[in-house]
Amino acid sequence: MIITGKYPALRLRRTRKYEWSRRLVRENNLSTNDLILPIFIVEGKNKKIPIASMPDIYRYSIDRVDKIISKAVNLKIPLVALFPYINQKLKNYNGSEALNKNNLICKTTSYIKKKYGNKIGVMCDVALDPYTSHGHDGIMKNGEILNDETIDILIKQSLAQANAGCDIIAPSDMMDGRIKLIRNALDKNNFKNVQLLSYAVKFASSFYGPFRDAVGSKNLLVGDKKTYQMDYSNNDEALREVALDIKEGADMVMVKPGLPYLDVIKSVKENFKIPVIAYQVSGEYSLITNSIKKGLVDEKIIFESLMSFKRAGSNAIITYFAEKIAKKLQKNSF
Ligand code: PBG
Repeated sequence: MIITGKYPALRLRRTRKYEWSRRLVRENNLSTNDLILPIFIVEGKNKKIPIASMPDIYRYSIDRVDKIISKAVNLKIPLVALFPYINQKLKNYNGSEALNKNNLICKTTSYIKKKYGNKIGVMCDVALDPYTSHGHDGIMKNGEILNDETIDILIKQSLAQANAGCDIIAPSDMMDGRIKLIRNALDKNNFKNVQLLSYAVKFASSFYGPFRDAVGSKNLLVGDKKTYQMDYSNNDEALREVALDIKEGADMVMVKPGLPYLDVIKSVKENFKIPVIAYQVSGEYSLITNSIKKGLVDEKIIFESLMSFKRAGSNAIITYFAEKIAKKLQKNSF
């Protein structure tokens, strides 16, 4: 190849020169289709309760959820994820409120589905931690979290949620083998089209702290979750978890937390051609929000952090910034 003209012939800055040309060569884009909005639900009427460790995030009573959903539908957010704050009186050792067909999550799900139909999807978490008096995701016996006994309960929890109209069942408990058994139970009970999003790669992380405050399990938790959630030093094991869950029937897989695990998202996406959902968790949210509020960084870092998930290969992101960012995207103001 003959290069004419002056050195250097190639100037990568050329395509960066104008805003239009930067847009033209952009490799990844973020749209409201990529955003999943988590909502915390609380019993009662006309409630909007602040959460100490999550600035600007609230727990809402069901009657207040309507407004959020209608906004989400208008913003074209495809999916909301519901999490309950369960009254302390309803918590017990085995988390039996999780099986109540009329519990907070089931009531909220059927309310949303009746009113909004298929204009928006509803995803429900399957795990016992909001319902147990010890804050663990499963059944505990002599200090151990029992795998198979827990799955029996999670199946019933999943069926209750599917019965309420839940579109996506998302087991976040990390018990071995639960995807297959939940899939079988859904199919047998005429819920063939209910989707399964497996929290396949969920690390035992300190980034979940504010969430545990939000669902009221923070002060209850006995010990830690390291015997079922993954060791954050591991990547090969993450791929094994994903391989198993795909074989067991997962429609989508999740990697969680988000930002410190972009490498894992990338390797999951490279190894498996399956939708990968990233969860930008509560601790990430609070760190970013507090830094913005203190004036340490500009709020544009939110957009930058979300784009990094796209670059790493996520199809969508569960983020507490979903509504704020969707509004900015609609106005094109980032
Ligand atoms: C429950 C669950 C947790 C999160 C989502 N589902 C907490 C945990 O496993 O302790 C964390 C979400 C967040 O931090 O935003 N199993």
